[in-house]
Amino acid sequence: MTSSHPSRATDLRARLERHWPTAEALLRRLYGDAPALGDWLAGVRDTVSQAALDRPAALAERDARRLVEPDWFQRPDQLGYCFYVDRFAGTLPGVQRRLGYLADLGVTYLHPLPLLAMQPGDNDGGFAVADYRSVEPRLGRTEDLAALAEAAHAAGMSLCLDVVCNHTARDHAWARAARSGDPHYRAYYHVLDSADAVATYEATLGQVFPKTAPGNFTPEPSLARDGGQAWVWTTFYPYQWDLNYANPAVFQEMLEVLLHLANQGVDIFRLDSTPFLWKAPGTSCRGLPQTHWVVRAWRALLAIAAPGVLLKGEAIVDPDDVVSFFGRDEASGLPAANECHLAYNNGMMTALWLAQATGDADPAHALLDRLAGRPRQAAWITYVRCHDDIIWDALATLIPHEALHRVSAFYAGALPGSYALGAAFQADGGGAPSTNGMAASLVGLRPGGRPGEPDTDAALARLLQLYQVTLALDGLPVLYMGDEVALTNAPLSSLPAGEGRWLHRPDMDWDRAAGRDDDATAAGAFHTALRRLIKARAGLPALHGAEPAQPLAGLPAGVLGFRRTGSRPLLCLANLTGQTVTISLPAASGRDAVAEGPIDPAALPLGPWQARWIEVSA
Ligand code: GLC
Repeated sequence: MTSSHPSRATDLRARLERHWPTAEALLRRLYGDAPALGDWLAGVRDTVSQAALDRPAALAERDARRLVEPDWFQRPDQLGYCFYVDRFAGTLPGVQRRLGYLADLGVTYLHPLPLLAMQPGDNDGGFAVADYRSVEPRLGRTEDLAALAEAAHAAGMSLCLDVVCNHTARDHAWARAARSGDPHYRAYYHVLDSADAVATYEATLGQVFPKTAPGNFTPEPSLARDGGQAWVWTTFYPYQWDLNYANPAVFQEMLEVLLHLANQGVDIFRLDSTPFLWKAPGTSCRGLPQTHWVVRAWRALLAIAAPGVLLKGEAIVDPDDVVSFFGRDEASGLPAANECHLAYNNGMMTALWLAQATGDADPAHALLDRLAGRPRQAAWITYVRCHDDIIWDALATLIPHEALHRVSAFYAGALPGSYALGAAFQADGGGAPSTNGMAASLVGLRPGGRPGEPDTDAALARLLQLYQVTLALDGLPVLYMGDEVALTNAPLSSLPAGEGRWLHRPDMDWDRAAGRDDDATAAGAFHTALRRLIKARAGLPALHGAEPAQPLAGLPAGVLGFRRTGSRPLLCLANLTGQTVTISLPAASGRDAVAEGPIDPAALPLGPWQARWIEVSA
């Protein structure tokens, strides 16, 4: 199929008719005051139309398949895997060579962390992008990205890529042009010219890295005018310059980046730091209405050019706010699936870790209720760990301050009775420090621990429980690299000074992975058990992600439980204590969906730290 193929042009016309009015309305609302708005809008329309016509035939066919099964990412056979390219496999061709390993585990969604050209030296693990159109030379050639997408597609996997859309590296060509005095590019960033202006904004802003990168602005004399001073907005590190989305040229640039990468075969965009895109004085500058309009406009425009492509919001915000990143109906204000198709369920992830530390399932149960307003066509990304720290203050509206401090101390191993081997990280304005560490270390697995030792067995049971609960929640579960073989923390000697998150960014241990079928090792015992869950999950209709998990009432203290509905309803039950608990279920009969045997609903034992999936009939 070529760009002149008549059906391609007809399809494009239909999609323009359907989605352009939405995009145009949002863009008019965002940029109504811009000079020559009509010409600019015509340019945006031409850009997406051209991208649609340029879309490689194989990707257009993939779009067509996705459109007839729009719930593909909610199906219970979907499983993600997230990793740093260099840590996992050295290079992009290296990743291609490991696809068999991932397929064997059941992976269907590949999320390599940032891999586009990054600024040399400190670059926040690639989250300081120097060029959105080339691959970081250390990781491969630019052509290797499309090759990876093609190989992943052939292996039945989709490809997710970070688009670091909130900021560029100080080293990006736009920032360099701004620094050399080009006013066009200076207007791509937020530049303030007085300490007063900085102080006024700071008064209502939070801080992401209060210890390692305090404040939200960085002095940048090269941007000063007429002998004055200049500060550039840097929410994260001083070398990450926030883009100014109030400038339509910035919107258009990032749209072109998205279209370019979509046509390389990227299926899902992780919109990095989504809540921060729009700034307004006197606000927290997180999740402002205009931020949502920007993302909704991207969605409508991608629906024209690359309709199979999904947006994933990285919105680590209060549980009550996160649902808004899936979208809202303009007229009614009710949730609607018109923004991100996917968003991280950071709240549940954090509440599960808290539940294991405290034995208290209530916050997790309460969150299930609060998050149930998600549009049914959208899905959570569910996860146990990722490359970032666990931010306890994410639960600040549910859990008292002191309790969050205690849980943070627990995971740093600083409370009596704590088994955890993590480390505390950052703390904003008296908030609880967050936690770094690989999942296996946070549950207390010591390097070299072997099954049969009580501490090792307890740690492995806790890790399996976290995964079993996560795999049963509504959403697309994403495994963090190494968790499948219970990989522990990176050696302390390998950590860069001042950035504790590298504790949970170790190199993949391929020797450990080679022994993954040996149940006499911790890696093997865990891998076998996890694979069994992944296999079972794929065949359980109740674990389709559309309908939300419903918390179970009336469980004994120390037991977490929820119900998934469907043709064969399923209960997920988890004992958060080190003692066996026996519970009784309000069901006539039941079956353990993993062990595949009948159970007695009147007396169901849950071993120490055990989770079970029970299919029930009323
Ligand atoms: C996201 C990333 C994090 C990074 C930050 C700034 O939160 O997950 O690792 O530091 O964005 O780009």
